Amino acid sequence: MPTRDHLQIWINGHRHEVRGDDMFLSLSDFLRDRLRLVGTKIVCSEGDCGACSVLLGRPKSNRLEYQAIDACIAFLFQLDGTHVVTVEGLSGGQLTPVQQAMVDCHGSQCGFCTPGFVVAMHGHCEQMSSGERTNRDEPNWRQALTGNLCRCTGYSPILEAAERAQAAGCPSVAERYPPAPLLAEIANSATDELEMASGRRKVYGPTVRSDAVKFLVENPGATIVAGATDLGVQMNKRHIAPTDFLLLNRLLEFRKVEVNDQGEEGRVLMAGAMATWADLETVLCKELPQFSEILSRFGSPQIRHMGTLGGNIINASPIADSLPVLHVLEAHLGIEGPEGSRRVNINDFYQDYKQFDLAPGELLAQIAMPLPREDEWLRLYKITRRRDLDISTFTAAIRMRRDRDRISEARIAYGAVGPIVLRLPQTEEFLIGKTFTEETMRLAGDMAATEITPISDVRGSADYRRQLAKNVLLKFYHEEHPSLVVV
Ligand SMILES: Cc1cc2nc3c(=O)[nH]c(=O)nc-3n(C[C@H](O)[C@H](O)[C@H](O)COP(=O)(O)OP(=O)(O)OC[C@H]3O[C@@H](n4cnc5c(N)ncnc54)[C@H](O)[C@@H]3O)c2cc1C
Ligand code: FES
Ligand code: FES
Repeated sequence: MPTRDHLQIWINGHRHEVRGDDMFLSLSDFLRDRLRLVGTKIVCSEGDCGACSVLLGRPKSNRLEYQAIDACIAFLFQLDGTHVVTVEGLSGGQLTPVQQAMVDCHGSQCGFCTPGFVVAMHGHCEQMSSGERTNRDEPNWRQALTGNLCRCTGYSPILEAAERAQAAGCPSVAERYPPAPLLAEIANSATDELEMASGRRKVYGPTVRSDAVKFLVENPGATIVAGATDLGVQMNKRHIAPTDFLLLNRLLEFRKVEVNDQGEEGRVLMAGAMATWADLETVLCKELPQFSEILSRFGSPQIRHMGTLGGNIINASPIADSLPVLHVLEAHLGIEGPEGSRRVNINDFYQDYKQFDLAPGELLAQIAMPLPREDEWLRLYKITRRRDLDISTFTAAIRMRRDRDRISEARIAYGAVGPIVLRLPQTEEFLIGKTFTEETMRLAGDMAATEITPISDVRGSADYRRQLAKNVLLKFYHEEHPSLVVV
């Protein structure tokens, strides 16, 4: 296919062709500096405050699905073939019910955060009306607005405005931007193979996995881009400036999430590496509610709409929230490379801090998660300094099987206690065959504290983390006992 010297993006209903170095701008810079759409504010440039929230419309089953994202960590080259709606584009001049409610409830003082809140509220209304609900989609505005910070108004008037707007009825984006003509323009652009270049920089978005591998082999050192929620922060804050980008967002098979019944081996949740946290949430809330609960505190809605499971695994942070559960589920990673496909148990994948078993030319394609059986307990823990939108101080996943009152299998994984997420083989071994009592779990906790190598940092001291490593096993006991409810 011919290499394009431009990308195309639709903003507030209008098509824009973007050329040259502008293709590598963040969406927020492009909106503000090139289009003068300055309602999109920039405060943190790292996805934390939501001031830059916009709605991103991507084709999904004959419609455009609009989700709030942070424009500061989304880059134009990722967004070819999408429709972006900014705060200026939400209405045709009159205030929307959301904006009117913000005025009526005094939800704005200095106003800097206000466009972000308004867009996030519209985004949540879109989700509510789309029918794709999770078990937490009830109009929980606190949850929906965790990605937006306000320094001066205080949150009560903002939450009151959200509730009032919902009662008044929030018009959907499709009412203002009828999907049919937009889709007709966007559809090919969004799904065709993409190749763009400007100067030294190039972007490739293949539609088949073998082409992705070929690109990696021919361009050693190319940067793989999934949702860019980690990468975007590195580009903005560490000023990394890759020249060759491999986009995975046109590999539609990488976004699939399904549950397969594999007979004797039980049920397995198969997730493409490009499944976003929002994609996963709709399945996990039914299939693995413990993981879904952790996801409710993963970043913010804006982050969950872009961030992917594959990105979390390959970013390889010892505090990544998906890793403890994947370790105790004995998840398998499907890896694609020049030698073909291979599978590796996640417990064998990580070697040291940010070092893992992925050779040049390889990429992560799929994650297979065996689901717990009826007779197993699984509990997940995420300890943070504040409840929402915070980096974990300590994470844990504990999975056990019982034979009457004895423990027949035990798997424990802790995060933020070493350079990688750690399984605790000695503690697991100690538990097998023991009666499930408070004393057993106390002794297991003492042993667990000796198996980890935490460090002290701004989020907690090494001693605090050791104490958590002990306490979490006792907490597990008290949560499972005496009712002995089987999950
Ligand atoms: C404000 C904010 C809050 C956050 N909160 C949390 C949180 O609560 N918990 C948490 O765990 N994380 C959190 N994160 C981190 C981040 O959102 C997650 O790690 C996310 O899952 C990364 O996915 P991504 O698609 O955005 O990855 P990207 O940024 O696109 O990629 C991350 C890395 O993985 C590589 N990569 C991506 N996909 C593949 C693949 N298929 N094969 C090979 N390499 C690949 C990329 O090259 C890059 O090096 C947060 C980030 C931000 C900015
Ligand atoms: S500017 Fe703070 S999230 Fe984008
Ligand atoms: S109104 Fe000032 S930051 Fe929210």
